[in-house]
Amino acid sequence: MSPSEWTEAEKARFRQDALDLVIPHFASNENLGRGPKIFVRGEGCYVYDLDGKKYFDSFATLLTTVCGHCRPEVTEAVRKQMELLEFFPNYEDAFTVPLVELARKLAQIMPGDLSVSFFVNSGSEANETALKMARQFHVAQGRPHRFKTIARRGSYHATTLGGISVTGLPWFREYFEPLLPGCIFAPAVRDHERPEGMSSEEYAQRCLRELEDLILFEKPETIGAMILDPLPGSNSGYPLPPRGYLPGVRALCDKYGIVLIFDEVQTGFGKTGKWFFCEHEGVVPDIMTIGKGFTGGFIPLGAAVTTPRIAEVFRRGPGSELRSGSTYGGHTVACAATLANLAIIEQENLLDHAAELGEYLSGRLGELREKYPVIGDIRGIGLLWAVVLMADRRTRRPLDPKLGVGSFIREWCYRSGMILRNNGDILVLAPSLIITRDETDMVIDKIDQAIAAAVENFHLG
Ligand SMILES: Cc1ncc(COP(=O)(O)O)c(C=O)c1O
Repeated sequence: MSPSEWTEAEKARFRQDALDLVIPHFASNENLGRGPKIFVRGEGCYVYDLDGKKYFDSFATLLTTVCGHCRPEVTEAVRKQMELLEFFPNYEDAFTVPLVELARKLAQIMPGDLSVSFFVNSGSEANETALKMARQFHVAQGRPHRFKTIARRGSYHATTLGGISVTGLPWFREYFEPLLPGCIFAPAVRDHERPEGMSSEEYAQRCLRELEDLILFEKPETIGAMILDPLPGSNSGYPLPPRGYLPGVRALCDKYGIVLIFDEVQTGFGKTGKWFFCEHEGVVPDIMTIGKGFTGGFIPLGAAVTTPRIAEVFRRGPGSELRSGSTYGGHTVACAATLANLAIIEQENLLDHAAELGEYLSGRLGELREKYPVIGDIRGIGLLWAVVLMADRRTRRPLDPKLGVGSFIREWCYRSGMILRNNGDILVLAPSLIITRDETDMVIDKIDQAIAAAVENFHLG
């Protein structure tokens, strides 16, 4: 019997079992207290819950469904692969056809000479792998003392113990310390935090001097890698880097022999209007990590993609191989689904569409900022945007977090049929790349009404 035929008693029982029998990832006991949200069906940018209610998902299913839900092209590719060979591991000396085809595709679309892929199951594993690659790269070349990694405050990289060791957000780390030794944190560098009167370029240079001071203080010969999200994610509201910062980081890593890792798990695959955010800055890392939109949400897959210069070290004969792997990393059907997802991005020209609609969305968000003094910043690029609420825009005084204004707005939107992500008082918009102009207007209208309701409810200025 399908869920649409369940009685109210059966639905209630199901909801209770969800609460009792499952621990959700990053569970929110506060939100669970209002009851679990159970989704049954998806189509385009929409999902339907157990009661058949339809929601527009403005966060693209946790930043994954770049081409929308349930694309028949992907279903067909998966079905064909399931009938032919559902799985063979990418293990020791074995490959499958979709896996090598996907590696070819990545070599074609990734910037610079990023062309050698190590496939995994998630973004977290991709970052774990990148850290291990950098470590083994140095050890293999007689530099075992380069064990330190520079990361940045405010950045999220993974849920695993290695990954949280380089995650600069205390909430993710606090129960698990001590973590990996040698992880050091550079400041988060956000263009909107630059001092008044200072140009973006000047601010970048100041931040680069601080980074070089940190490298010299720690001693360059002890530092193996620097990991950063060139455009930090939804947790910090897509803060753009100051102009010249990323090229400057690249130059410092080259100067001191540090492997540069870019985490584009969240920002890759068209969300910024190009395949990858780093292309906006013309900077190519030594390793790029990918996940989320890579597979379009269809089947889990991630990768750490590196250059021939790094990969060559793992191909120097027996004993030099990269010591990493898992049973399902590079799953055959996941590769087939991902190839179909990337084909849709290309066929439907979704990179240009994201860039164009991003311009439109940014304009509409600007209008909202004119209307509501409670909106401090509008930040983002392409189809990744943050609406940052503040008590006082001029002094940048935040709202009292205890009020829960962001959560009020999220819940208001949910009741009116739209999934909205908030991180405290940062509202995040990251819809699927297939969003239309009419849907964009609908999203803006809902946020407009939700903010109006919050202004009235909390007596905001
Ligand atoms: C920037 C970034 N890196 C890594 C990850 C981890 O990816 P996953 O959740 O697939 O393990 C995330 C997930 O939110 C992310 O946003």
